[in-house]
Amino acid sequence: MGAGIPIGGWGMDRRAWDASINTWRTSAGRWEEHRARFEAYLETLAFSEEPRLLELVEAMRYSMHGGGKRVRPTLCMEVAHVFGVEPELVLPSAAAIEMIHTYSLVHDDLPAMDNDDFRRGRPATHKKYGEAMAILAGDAFFGEALMLITVHQEGTCEQVLEVVRELAHSSGINGMSGGQVMDMKQTGVGGAADHETLHMIHRYKTGALIKSSARIGAILAGASEAEQAAVSEYAMELGLCFQIVDDLLDATSTREALGKSAGSDAEQGKATFVVVYGLDGATREADKAAEKALAVLSTVDGDTSGLRELVLFIRHRAH
Ligand code: IPE
Ligand code: IPE
Ligand code: MG
Ligand code: MG
Ligand code: MG
Repeated sequence: MGAGIPIGGWGMDRRAWDASINTWRTSAGRWEEHRARFEAYLETLAFSEEPRLLELVEAMRYSMHGGGKRVRPTLCMEVAHVFGVEPELVLPSAAAIEMIHTYSLVHDDLPAMDNDDFRRGRPATHKKYGEAMAILAGDAFFGEALMLITVHQEGTCEQVLEVVRELAHSSGINGMSGGQVMDMKQTGVGGAADHETLHMIHRYKTGALIKSSARIGAILAGASEAEQAAVSEYAMELGLCFQIVDDLLDATSTREALGKSAGSDAEQGKATFVVVYGLDGATREADKAAEKALAVLSTVDGDTSGLRELVLFIRHRAH
């Protein structure tokens, strides 16, 4: 695509898009600031000093520090910023969200699930530490996430409780875990999935945690109900766009570029936007979700430029 040609339906040209992605990536941007603060905070988490648990701690650190994009925790931090709170305040919850996300990836790659050997640019956790340790690292992340929020998150009791409720909901049966089950049930027969089922899988397995990430930032910043509702709608569309692009990348990119297996959805007969809508149709659906997310932002008071940049990054990311 040449310079000046609109990307998606919101009239941005290539140069604007490049600038936007660069803002997301370079040290000048607020996103990079969030990411640096977040990585520094993660480094402070020790998990356990018990020598008998060294291998589990290593497996957790290996999974966590493997170079993820940190979309969910930095989204949480940016939403806190939008509603006038120092992003640093939400770090314990942001780290809890990333732990739950990391646990979902560790389990997602297991032979009993997607059976993928490569993640975040290196062997998947079960390839390095064995299946039992990978399962238990995931379990431990869940508990540690709750510890982080309940012990270290500042806020009123009501806010902290609400954060726990959000995360429990988005990772439970009506969120990520339920979505993963729906995904597994369609494996091998994905092409036959109806549109409603496909949307539901993506909303549950991926959208729920992304929505919670934004909501948690809003809750801790003391945003009003109306502001929380707008941010939820934005993040729901962002989450849908995120997973459609993940489907597109699986079908069109390489393991080297993604840092994880490519082509594995087709191999396993997964229910993806690519198999149900085709490449062009899936691209249009990703554009549609991105446009809806951007449209919601115009209803939010405050500096939403960072949240706009995130939509563009998610829609056009290469990994
Ligand atoms: C991958 O998530 C799994 C999905 C929900 C599509 P990410 O693409 O955010 O993975 P990392 O955290 O950057 O490795
Ligand atoms: C997984 O979706 C979503 C999770 C809840 C982990 P995928 O199975 O498509 O994620 P990748 O492509 O392996 O990262
Ligand atoms: Mg999967
Ligand atoms: Mg997978
Ligand atoms: Mg995928």
